[in-house]
Amino acid sequence: MPAEKDILGAKILSLHSELMCAFPGLSRLAIAIYDKESDLLKTFADSTVDHSPIRYYCAKLSAVPSLQSLADNHQTRVIEDLENIRDSLSPHTQWLAHEGFRSSYTVPMYGHDHLIGFLFFDADRPKYFDELLIQSLNIYAELVTSLLINELSPIFTLRGALNTARNLTHHRDNETALHLTRMSHYSHLLAQKLSAQHDLSEEFIEYLLQYSPLHDIGKIGIPDDILLKPGRLTEDEYATIKTHVDIGLDIIDSILREFELVSLSHIDILKNIIGCHHERYDGSGYPKKLKGEDIPIEGRIVATADVLDALSHPRPYKKAWSFDDSFCYITDNSGILFDPDCCSILQENIEEFRRIYETFKEV
Ligand SMILES: [Fe+2]
Ligand SMILES: [Fe+2]
Repeated sequence: MPAEKDILGAKILSLHSELMCAFPGLSRLAIAIYDKESDLLKTFADSTVDHSPIRYYCAKLSAVPSLQSLADNHQTRVIEDLENIRDSLSPHTQWLAHEGFRSSYTVPMYGHDHLIGFLFFDADRPKYFDELLIQSLNIYAELVTSLLINELSPIFTLRGALNTARNLTHHRDNETALHLTRMSHYSHLLAQKLSAQHDLSEEFIEYLLQYSPLHDIGKIGIPDDILLKPGRLTEDEYATIKTHVDIGLDIIDSILREFELVSLSHIDILKNIIGCHHERYDGSGYPKKLKGEDIPIEGRIVATADVLDALSHPRPYKKAWSFDDSFCYITDNSGILFDPDCCSILQENIEEFRRIYETFKEV
């Protein structure tokens, strides 16, 4: 079941119940979204009846030639009997066959001629998708595509506006583009690993990845002489730096008003990331000195990811620590500065985090 906040997940679920009345054999409807920059295809929303849904599946499209070819040729695909292609290398197809689905219909979705994802219709019986059914499902596919575009395009508009603001002031910023890439990937990995424990949906995890690079957007309002000052800050200067959190929230509010995006779903995730990335688990952070679980989970995740990366790279006021020293600082402060669940995930998966550090190394 999608969480209450999962707007698209809820719409998919209600669409599926509607379709089930007309086509009772249709037992699954799922969306995977595509990110052109990373070539990643990720499960996003899923309505599965009588099967455990596949969750957090993520693969490079280029590594799934069958889907890549559908995308390139704007073609749909019917698999009449999944039993016959059990040997397929695609984990998605393997999962479908393993769960007992027998036939499937796949539709690539496009926005302005660019691939935005795939829609999967699956059935428990073989040869379920005949010509007539496909014609009806194509109409629903159009509808789902519009839903997806409606859901995602305001987020891209917002990110575009914020990135423009960021780029305009980029030369003043000490934090490199790679810092944002690494910390957003650390955040994404933390959220994936915490998903079962904290009931985090795929939509939530995707928005966390999209929004976490914007955590310090408020720094565009901090004067150069303070932002770029090498060495220790005075108490007053530090107080000025701390205002970047509230400045960030003000920027978001005015952009939302300006672009008429006030009702944008999931905007609370962005606000919590900006508002809480300097809160600390023991209440010693700022601006609200929130404590423990009063800090929203997205704030706790991003705080952990941000500090891990900040420590392991140079800043005007400090040299870079090694990855292992930075890592130990975070885990030594488990339950003090940082969320203990985030720290356990770090400890259990150190090599996966190190891989992100190595992949996006500064040159
Ligand atoms: Fe910050
Ligand atoms: Fe940062």
